[in-house]
Amino acid sequence: MKKELELFSTRYSCRNFTNEALNDEDLRQILEVARLSPSSLGLEPWKFLVVKDEFKKAEISKIANNQAHVKNAAALIIIVSKLDFASTFESKLRARKMSEEDLQMRLKTYKPFLEAMNAEQKVFYAREQAHLALGGILYAANALKIATCAIGGFDKNALNAYLKLDTSKEFTSLIVALGKSADEKIPPKQRYSFDEVVKFI
Ligand SMILES: Cc1cc2nc3c(=O)[nH]c(=O)nc-3n(C[C@H](O)[C@H](O)[C@H](O)COP(=O)(O)O)c2cc1C
Repeated sequence: MKKELELFSTRYSCRNFTNEALNDEDLRQILEVARLSPSSLGLEPWKFLVVKDEFKKAEISKIANNQAHVKNAAALIIIVSKLDFASTFESKLRARKMSEEDLQMRLKTYKPFLEAMNAEQKVFYAREQAHLALGGILYAANALKIATCAIGGFDKNALNAYLKLDTSKEFTSLIVALGKSADEKIPPKQRYSFDEVVKFI
């Protein structure tokens, strides 16, 4: 892989963190990349909760099937997905300062699609966007030599309850564990071959 793309080949899921704390500025930069992530219709249906407190990390690790790396990470970023995107759509469009005609056209095209979603579709749609932010976090951290592990294996209801989320408005989608790696080398990648997954059609 080209040197410019090493960021993508060197990222891996770290499950072996040192107990070194993260630099607050680095953490902020990673969160800034998350904030700038693309989202369908620019709806940004997310919030990022940062956990550094040892007790809370231990509690969240229990909710995440006792995964030790959740407890041992220097910080956790919890991606919370928001469900109010149909109602924020217009104000977010207005903030983009487009012509009234363009704005009305977009409202007419997309608002019915957002409003027609049932509860399950809304959860699915919001969660899809969370994965884009996840990608940004993983690679931004790697660029700063901070190791990560995406964590999807946790009891969603238990974490929603732990964080006292009003699940009619928001819910937990993903956790990212971050810290300095204690691994001596990156484990080899297990992937399908290029030709198995890529077809030029
Ligand atoms: C959405 C998502 C959820 C994941 N959940 C977990 C998890 O709960 N625990 C864990 O140790 N790894 C988890 N992983 C990491 C994957 O196991 C890992 O990305 C995959 O095996 C490929 O390895 P690599 O990331 O080292 O390249 C998750 C990854 C993704 C993208």
